[in-house]
Amino acid sequence: EILQRKTLQELYQRLTKSFEHLLWHSARGQEALAYLYKRGLSEENIRTFRVGYGMSGYQELYQFLLKRGYSEPFLAESGLFSKKHPMYSIFRDRIIFPLINSAGEVVAYSGRAMPDAKADAPKYINSPETVLFSKRKELYGMGQAKESIRKEEQFILCEGAMDVMALHQMGYTQAVAPLGSAFTLEQAELVRRFASSALLLMDGDAAGQKAIHQSAMICEESGVSSLRAVRLPANKDPSECLEYGQVDLLTKSIKHASLYFDFLLQEQFKEIPKDNIDQQMRASLPIFKYISIVPSPVRRESYLKMLAGK
Ligand code: CTP
Ligand code: MN
Ligand code: MN
Ligand code: MN
Ligand code: MN
Repeated sequence: EILQRKTLQELYQRLTKSFEHLLWHSARGQEALAYLYKRGLSEENIRTFRVGYGMSGYQELYQFLLKRGYSEPFLAESGLFSKKHPMYSIFRDRIIFPLINSAGEVVAYSGRAMPDAKADAPKYINSPETVLFSKRKELYGMGQAKESIRKEEQFILCEGAMDVMALHQMGYTQAVAPLGSAFTLEQAELVRRFASSALLLMDGDAAGQKAIHQSAMICEESGVSSLRAVRLPANKDPSECLEYGQVDLLTKSIKHASLYFDFLLQEQFKEIPKDNIDQQMRASLPIFKYISIVPSPVRRESYLKMLAGK
């Protein structure tokens, strides 16, 4: 398995370069690039994140790799091909966002549908679990963000690849994201090696608000020492703020981010009359549950005081 790991690592290194080459130099790659520019991303940023374009033929990648001497059984385990149609690339005709881990290695890809893809095509397809990649343990942007996270003593958690790239371009180079799934304790422990405070910056829709609460619990569980959250306007995400010229709005929101716990109290008590003790008690239950997972007694104590004050 060690050998397979090393070979797969080398394959991903080379493949990332090939995908990048196709983005900058193929005709279809130019369409992908035009789309990235339309979304407000800069050339420098696209290069920093090593964005690429996956080949367009179904079996093109498979044939390309066979010719370079990779065996069929190895390719079957590479995470690049469909289980159902073993020669079909799962990243065929997609914009490729390589996931670069904290050691600077490409360990997975996230492939986004092209703007003219069929309506029923999934918008994102991510690498499956491989010898290199365990999705519970990695965060998109970690390789690019690690040093800033250390320096700023903070990480920003957002939802996806485009959001991470947009935030880095606006100067928030401490942004990372899980890819298309909930933030996990393993991911929190990874990023907590570099910083102890967190800012949650999910999409302004209902799913994003749910993700804020879920991620906050995970952050607390991992022992963050300061937790803030930004509420974006409904149906906006960080990438759309860049695309539609709302960088100032986002910058202000980040600067004035409230403590997550204040945000939680406000949300939980917003429709509850001040004199209705039963309703207040009921609204407190999820908050008690939240407080109970906080490892630090000092932090628990201060949350209890804030809740009592409310
Ligand atoms: N995502 C993913 N896999 C999925 C769904 C989503 O990896 N099956 C990631 C993507 O990086 C995506 C992020 O989760 O950007 C948030 O999802 P969503 O808000 O639905 O993406 P959009 O903002 O609509 O995507 P885009 O900005 O690329 O149009
Ligand atoms: Mn969407
Ligand atoms: Mn969303
Ligand atoms: Mn979004
Ligand atoms: Mn988006």
